[in-house]
Amino acid sequence: MTPVTVRVPAKVNLQLSVGPPKADGYHDLVTVFHAVSLFDEVTVAPADRTSVGVTGEDAARVPSGRANLAVRAARALASAARRRQDSSAVRIEIRKRIPVSAGLAGGSADAAAALVACNELWQAGLSLGELREIAASVGSDVAFTLLGGTAVGQGRGERLTAALTSGTYHWVLAFASGGLPTPEVYATCDRLRAARAAGAASGAVPQPELDTGLMAALRSGDPAAVGPLLSNDLQAAAVSLRPDLRRTLAAGREHGALGAVVSGSGPTCAFLAADARRARELAVSLSGAGVCRAVAPVQGPAPGAAVLAGERG
Ligand code: C5P
Repeated sequence: MTPVTVRVPAKVNLQLSVGPPKADGYHDLVTVFHAVSLFDEVTVAPADRTSVGVTGEDAARVPSGRANLAVRAARALASAARRRQDSSAVRIEIRKRIPVSAGLAGGSADAAAALVACNELWQAGLSLGELREIAASVGSDVAFTLLGGTAVGQGRGERLTAALTSGTYHWVLAFASGGLPTPEVYATCDRLRAARAAGAASGAVPQPELDTGLMAALRSGDPAAVGPLLSNDLQAAAVSLRPDLRRTLAAGREHGALGAVVSGSGPTCAFLAADARRARELAVSLSGAGVCRAVAPVQGPAPGAAVLAGERG
């Protein structure tokens, strides 16, 4: 069996509306996922025992062994495809460009890539629908990075409907140093809401709803219409945990971004630009302003997890 390499995108959330906490510790979401052209690459090859190696961005911060989502995905696929244990061990090599714990679904992306790569390596023949079901059992964002493009996510984020959009959107991602643990950001969001509710007449957190104005703007292909409609219910929590993000967001707006939002649970900030040239200019300005660790101009929507040509088994 020849090794198989899969390329998989990062995501930003154009809308992230979070409902009240549920008994299982999760929150009902309505989110608009958008895959962007910042990719990890994952190679799988047969081995005597399953292991994972990571190179590139933030490599030292990626968990190894069973705590790694790509390892969990490979195991879940082996069990769904009813492979014998002695023939389902793989070496997983992850080349990371997506920062870790950054609100960009980097770990989920590697899991999605491992699913597609092992399905190909083992010629297991599972459909995209079957892969999506396994993906949802591994993590909330795995199903989306498998699909790519732009999609509305509901439930925990795993129930997806592809969205109609026009054109290409040009973004600048501003990476922070260090990450934010997703459970802590959700818990902080709950706490901030509870504190606010204590001083208000009606405290109930409403069920999340899709922003139809944002969907219309995305269909129009006009970044100036999309920019002001970007929203994220986790942003206040992320900013309270990382107050330096306030400066980053303000700097993006000052330098002409059409929209500025924390991506997912943060700390990455995403800025929408009018076109590729303005995105490059904004990236240079943000770098110069010293408000982030690094910047990356990217485009969306990007395709989901896909086997790289010439790498098929
Ligand atoms: O599903 P995943 O493992 O990616 O979720 C990480 C954490 O994010 C969960 O343990 C939970 O604390 C939080 N989460 C949530 N509601 C969601 C998705 C994630 O509370 N819909």
